[in-house]
Amino acid sequence: MGITFDKSTQFFHLTTKNTSYLFGIFDNNYLYSPYYGRRLREGTDLKRLWQKYPSGFSPNYEGAPSVDYALDLIPTEYPAYGGGDYRNPAVGVHFEDGSRIIDPKFVSYTITDGNEELKGLPSLSGGDQTLEVLLRDEPSGVEIVLHYVIFEDIDIIARSARIINGTNEAIRVTRALSMSMDLPIADYDMIGLYGTHIRERQIDRSPLRHGIQSVGSRRGTSSHHHNPFISFVSKTTTEEQGDAYGCALIYSGNWIGVAEVDPFGGARVQMGIHPADFSWKLNPGEEFVTPEAVITYTHNGMNRMSQNFHDAFRYHLGHTKNRNKRRPIVVNNWEATYFDFDEEKLLGIIESCKGLGIDTFVLDDGWFGHRDTDNSSLGDWFVHTGKLPNGLTPLIEKCEEQGMTFGLWFEPEMISEDSELYRAHPDWALKKNGRPFCRGRQQLILDLSREDVLEYLQETVGGVLRNNRISYVKWDMNRHFTEAYSEALPPDQQGEVFHRFVLNLYRFMAYLNENFPDLVIEGCSGGGGRFDAGVLYYQPQIWTSDDSDAIERLKIQYGTSMCYPPQAMTAHLSASPNHQMNRVTPYNTRALVAQSASFGYELNPLHLTDEERAQIKTQTDRYREVSDMILKGDFYRLINPFNTNACAWMFVLPDKSKAYAVYVRQLNLPADPVKVLKFQGLDPEAVYHIDELDADFGGDELMYAGVALKHLWDFEATSFTLTKK
Ligand code: DGJ
Repeated sequence: MGITFDKSTQFFHLTTKNTSYLFGIFDNNYLYSPYYGRRLREGTDLKRLWQKYPSGFSPNYEGAPSVDYALDLIPTEYPAYGGGDYRNPAVGVHFEDGSRIIDPKFVSYTITDGNEELKGLPSLSGGDQTLEVLLRDEPSGVEIVLHYVIFEDIDIIARSARIINGTNEAIRVTRALSMSMDLPIADYDMIGLYGTHIRERQIDRSPLRHGIQSVGSRRGTSSHHHNPFISFVSKTTTEEQGDAYGCALIYSGNWIGVAEVDPFGGARVQMGIHPADFSWKLNPGEEFVTPEAVITYTHNGMNRMSQNFHDAFRYHLGHTKNRNKRRPIVVNNWEATYFDFDEEKLLGIIESCKGLGIDTFVLDDGWFGHRDTDNSSLGDWFVHTGKLPNGLTPLIEKCEEQGMTFGLWFEPEMISEDSELYRAHPDWALKKNGRPFCRGRQQLILDLSREDVLEYLQETVGGVLRNNRISYVKWDMNRHFTEAYSEALPPDQQGEVFHRFVLNLYRFMAYLNENFPDLVIEGCSGGGGRFDAGVLYYQPQIWTSDDSDAIERLKIQYGTSMCYPPQAMTAHLSASPNHQMNRVTPYNTRALVAQSASFGYELNPLHLTDEERAQIKTQTDRYREVSDMILKGDFYRLINPFNTNACAWMFVLPDKSKAYAVYVRQLNLPADPVKVLKFQGLDPEAVYHIDELDADFGGDELMYAGVALKHLWDFEATSFTLTKK
């Protein structure tokens, strides 16, 4: 395992437990990248894969040995524009004289143990080895450093690039992708996670076709609409077997994931910051660092691909204290009260949590400025004395009296026109003075690319946290960008607004982590509109969707698990009929779906019957029992809710001593045959006791024959708790 450079073949081998990633120094010092797949032995000479194509209309680069050599025909590591490779480039540069041509070639490399995190951007830590490869465009002096970190045991490679202005003049970087990879054969399906508000991360699997196909976001955030994750799988790949490549971007702003199938049958796969509306000025000697892309390959199907990502994000992403700890079971008041609350009502809600096993009460939107609806006060982070005349203290004390803690909602990146902040600083909103501008949810976006805005947020939000005993923050973000113009930046840097916003967003998140290390912060963006690894670096869980209906959540959580571990998803049991779907579902189903994530409640405990209160106490106790599996277990998707009438999943502790599975029935079918659930990931030699059936089964029986399911009516669910004997 490890990273080596084979001097005789001139190939770099990045070898993990089960995979090899190979590229070599080719003719004229170009990089030739023929292979990412199952592990190959050291010394394999993949120059033998090189084949000369008939190269009509593929111009030959200067110094090419024959007419068969053209950049258009070479699979390469980090392609550039201008020298005859007509496929998508990874990098684009504009020089002062208007030229856009660069031709990066190999210069040198370093291999070091461990890894350093990227400067100013969230990235993985705890890697085994790092490879840096220096490329240079000799005529100009522009340099590119390709950066690779391997995580051997989990078959993960993290990739990024640095573009360095080695010239004597300012240049503009117009494209700077995090990774590019040429798959030699394009016979794959592309998988993406698309969606909308209240329907995030649905799974799309479509065959690749000739030409460019891409997903991405130009909305300023990673978005509900497409998630920064793409995968390429063979036609026959299932959850359990077959080739699966995955790529996820650790970034929360505009992004692109693209595959270009060329006429010769190869596929160029790329991911990074979306080049539309992006440019970055680099003065001589300065460098631009791309976000990190995380890639994995397995021949063991989509579920293993997901497990590799889950392990990368659970054990190598971020440093928050509560990263792999059980997070508090919360009651959030949003669906209980919306904006309609006052001190008395909230005290009643907190009081009624007594005896339910709730850890934290979270006060959602509406506690600040004079916010009674969504048309005012964002930016005014001081208490709404009309609703809470005595401030937050009585609420905090009430929580503490009954052994709970207090949490609070913020939407730091926003500004309302009706706010003290806007009246004082109208130029702090992202828009162009003198032009009409859009509103989203009646609000504007704070220009966080500005240093003074960052300082304001640190003082005000930090002040509330410093002056009150707050253990939990829900950080919301409720509109997408328009008129992205900053009054603080010069004309030639307006293309930097989106990325500068994200960089300062990360600085603010890091500030909160450093200054309030015990605080649990839950990410949120109108539900799951910013569910990405960039946020997860700082905030270990994210509100998965504003759709809290258990049946809709089956698809949303199943889709999200393609890339993110269940412990990263916040899921709340909410009232029935559900507020988004008006659907009536059993309490047990709502609990089992929400308990397979970071669990809580989104309802008014004052409205509960005694029987429901007893059920909640049982649920919170139960969550404490199974939460270890949800945090540390390997996750298996068992039954797909998108193409069946059910959904099932399970968690297995890595030592296979315990497991926990959930099966949910969607709509019933008449005369439906008996259903069997087959488990996965168990020890086939062992005997497991299933609590709910009070019976023992062989691990082999459970995996290969399965257990018969009792009859379930519409929306009913059942669980299985397995202990190895
Ligand atoms: C959107 C969030 O997703 C909701 O949970 C809630 O916090 C509202 N915003 C409040 O405005």
